[in-house]
Amino acid sequence: MTTNLNTLNSFSSAQKRDFLKQLLAEKSDSLSLSGKPRQWDHKKFLDDAEAAGFLLDNGIPVMEGMSGSHIKRNGREMINLSGINFLGLQQEDQFLEYFCQNTRQYGLATGGSRLTQGVSRPHLLLEQKMNEIWQKDYTLTFGTGALANIGFINAMTSAFGFDASVTIDNQDVIFVLDRDCHWSLWNPLAHRKFGSQVFAFKHNDPSSLEQVLKKIKSSKIIVVFETVYSSDGSVAPVGELIDICERYGALSYVDDANGFMIYGTPNRPFYQEYQALRRATFIMVSFSKAVGIEGGAISGPAEFVKSFEILSGTSLFTATMQPPTAATNLEIIQHLENNPQIMDNYLKRCSKLRETLINLGFHLNDVPSYITSIVIGEDEIAEQVRRDLLEMGYCIPVFRYPAVERGKALIRLMINNKHTESDIDGFVKALKKVRKRYQF
Ligand SMILES: Cc1ncc(COP(=O)(O)O)c(C=O)c1O
Repeated sequence: MTTNLNTLNSFSSAQKRDFLKQLLAEKSDSLSLSGKPRQWDHKKFLDDAEAAGFLLDNGIPVMEGMSGSHIKRNGREMINLSGINFLGLQQEDQFLEYFCQNTRQYGLATGGSRLTQGVSRPHLLLEQKMNEIWQKDYTLTFGTGALANIGFINAMTSAFGFDASVTIDNQDVIFVLDRDCHWSLWNPLAHRKFGSQVFAFKHNDPSSLEQVLKKIKSSKIIVVFETVYSSDGSVAPVGELIDICERYGALSYVDDANGFMIYGTPNRPFYQEYQALRRATFIMVSFSKAVGIEGGAISGPAEFVKSFEILSGTSLFTATMQPPTAATNLEIIQHLENNPQIMDNYLKRCSKLRETLINLGFHLNDVPSYITSIVIGEDEIAEQVRRDLLEMGYCIPVFRYPAVERGKALIRLMINNKHTESDIDGFVKALKKVRKRYQF
């Protein structure tokens, strides 16, 4: 994926609505003037996007070999700061070997749904481990974290009956989301009425959540938020938000895609938030970030989560992760538990980079999580910075409008644990050079 497409994926719903409204307003003139609305605009859309610099020049580059701290694109080796599986464990021989062994034992695919065939052992063991981690009674795994989120919303808004006597109706459930929640949480709610069936509260703002809950007269409310937000690295006041949910009798669904296996031990930041997280009704994780493979899971009360096998749609009607993927996810989780120094050292390296950049006068995101965002400002300058750094051999993700407000473009950095100190020093030097050029 290109940097800018990554950026599009991280829209908050409010940003998406604004962006689309503006786009449609800009387009409507030309459509009505011509008198003949075009029916299929995809080619023009892609051509315009490329011309405006939203897509990389000459299309999506071909990446040879594995994605990691270094990548080879179109034959050129570069230092990669765009990868999301930042510990790099998925590239280590022991886990590659473990994956292969499990492929031989359990095969390349589950071959069908658990409702018809049964659950494969690696999936069951991973789900049992997730129950133990979160102290919940039931976990269901999905092909990806996004499918877990979409499945949850499907299940909790569905009306379904096997026959007239075996039915469920969740159409009266009301959702209240942090407005910066991920696309996979907002998008499946697009067909619900905003302001009566779906509400938003201000980002990470408990009093805004309370204001919204005060207005709702229903006993079936679900509050949805994330732990760590990937664009600005902010961390939710989890305890305060859950206190309010409990006070108003609302269930809580917390997406921990960006914090799973990173935070939660007493010596690491945000310990209180992670202690409070255990009180959430449902906890969702992605295995594509710290664990570094793929897949997602929802843990929670058995009476709900068991029913998601049928009601989510993204369990019964699509494939799940492959058995060796489930097995290797579990192996890496156990490896991280048994070797906490891996994450401790990684977090230290993130703090050190943050400190270096602050001392050099760069403007950074406020919350010192492992995600470091360097504020650049104007979108056009950010695009130049991206191109210049690419030229110098660094592949970086730039977030610009509409992922962030106009004029507040930023570089979203997650260093890879396999980067050497000299890779990082080189990158900081390159950053200083481009800053001199563009004054951000
Ligand atoms: C908050 C959040 N939820 C869900 C997802 C989707 O996770 P996955 O990559 O496992 O589909 C992401 C990934 O970007 C995310 O940041």
